[in-house]
This record gives sequence, structure tokens and C-alpha cells, in this order.
Amino acid sequence: MKWPEHGGQPDLMKQLLHAEEQEVLDFSANLNPLGPPEWLRDELEAQWKKLLCYPDPDYTYSTSALAWLEGIREEEMLLTNGGAEAIFLAAKFFEGKRAGVVHPAFSEYERACRHYHLVVTDFLTSTVDDFRLPMNQLLDTLPELDVLFLCRPNNPTGVVIPKAEIKMLLEQGLHDHTFLVIDEAFVDFVPSESLTPLLKEYPNLILLRSLTKMYTIPGLRLGYMMASETVINEMKSFQLPWSVNALASAIAPILLKDKEFARQTLRWLDEQTRILRTFSEKNDFYLSNTSVNFYLLQDNRNPEKTESLFTFLFQHGILARHTYNFKGLEGSHVRVAIRSEEENDQLLAILKKWREQK
Ligand SMILES: Cc1ncc(COP(=O)(O)O)c(C=O)c1O
Repeated sequence: MKWPEHGGQPDLMKQLLHAEEQEVLDFSANLNPLGPPEWLRDELEAQWKKLLCYPDPDYTYSTSALAWLEGIREEEMLLTNGGAEAIFLAAKFFEGKRAGVVHPAFSEYERACRHYHLVVTDFLTSTVDDFRLPMNQLLDTLPELDVLFLCRPNNPTGVVIPKAEIKMLLEQGLHDHTFLVIDEAFVDFVPSESLTPLLKEYPNLILLRSLTKMYTIPGLRLGYMMASETVINEMKSFQLPWSVNALASAIAPILLKDKEFARQTLRWLDEQTRILRTFSEKNDFYLSNTSVNFYLLQDNRNPEKTESLFTFLFQHGILARHTYNFKGLEGSHVRVAIRSEEENDQLLAILKKWREQK
């Protein structure tokens, strides 16, 4: 079977599994089930006339509002068409140079690097040591790299690299003229881990953000990049004109100002993660050390049976995310989104059934 590149495609998965009639709950996309915020629809309707004019090419208002909210200067902020555009702009910045990518990680870093002819060195982390970075190997190799791509919090594991390790890499990067591109697409789910304050100290740090995940707006296409003024100026010169649509640009600061939505989300996540952990410990499932809204799952008693587990879940109405296209996993786990309490309960009931059968 040719597995799709990304999650969140239930119709395609049904076709591939020859089960078009099957009802499924989509646990394969890692979006916030509490979103989008209730006011979003009215706000988009109220602002619809923005579609009748070209957006401000510099997105002056939203850029300065986002910069203010992040505590940086507006010259250090670039609005992008989703986190995906930010990834491709970052790869373009290092066109033809030498990159490192730490796996398992979101597949678009590799695709973007290939697109811009970067020579890529892969580094692997694994379940054996809870996906810790191979620090010695990275520090040894950093002088040979122009850029290291990291996903923090990581997709697909949900693991957050300790800040001390990031600082160590940034320090050595300063010395070796190596940049760190750190994708923080999921950091809104663990805001205390944001690396924005480090931008002041480290001109070799480039941070990528997405509003897709936290606010459940994959169709709007909204993200941003934060880096030194010099880097942002060069990135801007690569960006297509009017890359971000006027509605997305108008909505960005309003989303980030909705602190109550963010608080509610963190409360829900904390509660659901605790329930899932207790279940997995009791029933002998591996659950990655996640801090965000998804996790890797494997049956500890039948680690080689992940594909059967995936199929079993699907047949019982749960679509998980395969991990065949994550280097270092190659299908060994499934990635599962954390959804509403009711939906998570359904998943746990099915996992119990699986355990009773085995
Ligand atoms: C780690 C990571 N970064 C970036 C993106 C892209 O997000 P966006 O929808 O903002 O382009 C994704 C989407 O799955 C992701 O998982």
C-alpha cells in the first residue's frame, strides 16, 4: 500500500483500505479538538470585505501586533502562509548548503531541503532513550553543517528537547557559524517551552511557528518566522508577493490575544494526558513522553504488531496516523491525536478490546 504523506485524510485512507462506507473518528490529524475559537466564524464574516483589496504587502499591522505579543521587534518577525511556507523559506535561505535533520521529524524539512539542493545529514533518535538528542554526535558534526533542523516539540513524538541542550547547540553554532532552524509549530500547547527569549542572545536561531494546530485552521494557512533582522530581511526577499491572504493576516493577532482559549486548551490537554498515561501504564501500552496534543503508541506486549493494531483501530472506527514515512520509526508505532474526552474514551475502550483479544 502507498501510505499518504500526511495525516488528516480520512477519505483517502478509506479508499486505500477499501472501506469507503466505514465511519471513522479522525485521530490522525494533530489539531486542537477545542478549536477553532467560537468567535472565529463571526470575525471572518465581519472582515470578509478585506478579500476585495490586495493585502498590505508588508502586513504592517499584523506583523507589529504579533511582534509585540512575542516581545520582539517587528523587524524580527515575518508572517508566512502557514508553517509550511516558513520551512521552505528557511531551506531556500540555505540553498545548496549543508543541513542536518534530526529524525523522526515532520517530513517537510527533508522535502524542502531536497527542493533547494541542500546536502542533508540525518541524525536518528529512538524510543530506547526516550528520543533524546545524540548530543555528542551533533556537537561533533556541527562544524560541518550550515544549518540544523529541529522539531521542538517534536512531531511525531511530542517530546520537547531540554532547553539546556538547545543552548549548548546554539553556543557551539555561534562558534562554527551554524544556524539552528527550530520548528515550534506545537509550542502553543506547552508555552513555557517557547524559545523566543533566546532570539536576543543568538543571531543563529530561526524559529518557525504555525497557527494551524492550536487554532484548528489548516485551511486558512497562517504561520510566522522569528529571527534576526538580517535573516528576516533576506527571507522577505524570497517570499512571493501577498503570500498571506488578507483574512488570515487580519485574524492572526486576534487569535494570539485570545488567552482564555489557550488556557482552556491547556486545561483539557493536562487532564486528558493524565487519563491516557494512567491507562497505558495499567494496560501495558507504550506512550511517548509527550507534552503536546498527540503521542506515539505501541503495544508493549506485541511491538511487532503495530500494523495489525492500526487495522484493528480502523475496523473499530478509529483512524490513527501511520509512521511509515518517519525515519527511525518506519511503521513501528502509530501516532494518535489527543481528542475530546468522549472520543478518547472510545479509543481506550477499543484498545482494551485489543488487549483482551491478545
Ligand atoms: C511540525 C510541523 N511543522 C509545520 C507544519 C505545517 O503547518 P502549517 O499548516 O502551518 O503549514 C506541520 C503540519 O503538520 C507540522 O507538523
